[in-house]
Amino acid sequence: MSGIILCRSKYGASAKYAEWLSQETGFKVTDTKKADIKEVAKYDTVVLGGGVYASSIAGIAFLKKNISALKGKNIYVYCCGMAPLSEEVLGILKKKNLSGELSDIPLFYYQGKWDMNDLNLSDKAMMKLYIKMLEKKDPSELKEYDRPMLEVKDKTMDWTDKKNLGPLLELIRSKGE
Ligand SMILES: Cc1cc2nc3c(=O)[nH]c(=O)nc-3n(C[C@H](O)[C@H](O)[C@H](O)COP(=O)(O)O)c2cc1C
Repeated sequence: MSGIILCRSKYGASAKYAEWLSQETGFKVTDTKKADIKEVAKYDTVVLGGGVYASSIAGIAFLKKNISALKGKNIYVYCCGMAPLSEEVLGILKKKNLSGELSDIPLFYYQGKWDMNDLNLSDKAMMKLYIKMLEKKDPSELKEYDRPMLEVKDKTMDWTDKKNLGPLLELIRSKGE
């Protein structure tokens, strides 16, 4: 079975998972921004991966726009964020990114990377502001997914681990690679 991996990654975590997936499946990796639907529609399996920024999965607009051209394909989405995996986080991501026609697409979530010093200027400014806002809140008011942000804000974290891809690889292979 043929497949392609579309990926948008600013800080490397989603790209790393794309590379590992490619090694395991032989599927080529394309930047979602440069993806052409005519080319993507030639494959049986389409994996879209992207970083999570303000709860949005990078590149998800490509799927939203082209879902009708991809009818009948095996489509999977994975994303990388900073928050630890939880039902709450998955629920928020599904609601924001995979509603309507995309609601049946399996979503895989992995913790990615975090390094405030590595952020570009606008992301750094935004995150500093966001952290300041969280710090002003009463700790009891903090959402489950916001707490980790305050714990790791000044640390350099890399949670990426090839083993996390197990369930996604299993699903891809169950349909015949
Ligand atoms: C501007 C910005 C917004 C972010 N928003 C979220 C978020 O809403 N939820 C989350 O879990 N992580 C969030 N993060 C953390 C990123 O998802 C994390 O760094 C991830 O590794 C990004 O994927 P990438 O490494 O493929 O770019 C945010 C990071 C930045 C810089």
